[in-house]
Amino acid sequence: MQKKNILLAVSGGIAAYKAAELTRLLKKQGYAVRVVMTESATRFVTPLTFQALTGHPVHHQLLDVDEENAMGHINLARWAEHLLIAPATANIIAKMSHGLADDLLTTLYLAAECPVSIAPAMNQAMWGKSVTQQNIRSLMECGVQILGPEAGDQACGESGMGRMLEPEKICNILSSSENAALKGKRILISAGPTREAIDPVRFISNRSSGKMGYALAEAAVKLGATVTLVSGPVNLMPLTGVGLVNVESAEQMYNAIAPNAHEYDIYIGAAAVADYRPAEVVQQKIKKQLMQSNIPLTQNKDIIAAVAELPNRPFVVGFAAETDDLEQYARHKMRNKKLDMIAANWVGREQGGFDSDVNALKVFWQGGDETLAMMDKPLLAERLLELIAKRMHEKNTA
Ligand code: C5P
Repeated sequence: MQKKNILLAVSGGIAAYKAAELTRLLKKQGYAVRVVMTESATRFVTPLTFQALTGHPVHHQLLDVDEENAMGHINLARWAEHLLIAPATANIIAKMSHGLADDLLTTLYLAAECPVSIAPAMNQAMWGKSVTQQNIRSLMECGVQILGPEAGDQACGESGMGRMLEPEKICNILSSSENAALKGKRILISAGPTREAIDPVRFISNRSSGKMGYALAEAAVKLGATVTLVSGPVNLMPLTGVGLVNVESAEQMYNAIAPNAHEYDIYIGAAAVADYRPAEVVQQKIKKQLMQSNIPLTQNKDIIAAVAELPNRPFVVGFAAETDDLEQYARHKMRNKKLDMIAANWVGREQGGFDSDVNALKVFWQGGDETLAMMDKPLLAERLLELIAKRMHEKNTA
């Protein structure tokens, strides 16, 4: 497959030297690469380096007649199918987030209509400054993909967050999002436990940490999907690029999912939804002496079964946590709830499952199954999503 035209824009930080290696790797992967630089970047690495690596003239001035003759900035912006700014300094990030266009790089950013990624690189204090973080957030809201930075030793002798991602990592992220298995797909995911109130201070809940659902949401974005995550109460950070809807009870989760699920291509029910709630929520805190040993319960609606009943239902994937007879219970659940697929895992074993960072899954569908061995939840999430994409494709083309 013909790879894209990448316009690599280099701004003036010490990490500019890594952009030479990045150019070489992008070329090696088959991308057509052109390079532009800011004036200060040319003080770190010469344009000649990039010219030699790409075989094309390197532009660094906006108002230079010769450069505009070779390929004007608007043509350069049109040529680009992806604009990658690496390294992106605090100054360039600030200018981009405010729409300034007083040099070639920032003008190209405004003129480009293609996807834009930036690889920030700066001193850890500059990265941590709230104004830089605000600028990053506003670029994200404009759809700019932020690659890194990562933590480690810095050129200034300090150590912390702000190092540019290694060229190899940047390259891998770009090419994997291009071959993305879920490109253009809309995915709705539920995660975490629900809390069913007994009174204003007490509730019934379960051990779900939400880690699997969050890992699925993060991996789905990586695989090119647009993701909405409906999350019960968890101790996890919101994810970059994922629409988050916070809920508490099973009823709230139902209301956030059931009326909207038809707008999605895939629904994954990774939440551990409480099956029952107290029949009545007492409005005042129940005194210890009056607490009953039997709290009357009423059954919650089954969210995933309701999604599977929709006339134009998405591809529906459920989870099953079992302590015994894994396959039998999982397949039964899949049939009962009319799921397309079910991912089952053992609970109460030595490793994996609830509240753990690792997990193993056995995935079932009508007429098949696949085992995903014990691994980190982020990697497991990616494997499961690849399997979902494959099965969905087979179902749609059957
Ligand atoms: O029946 P069980 O709760 O074991 O089924 C688990 C699957 O069903 C999970 O995918 C879970 O998210 C979903 N579920 C649901 N609504 C409920 C109970 C479970 O969507 N009320």
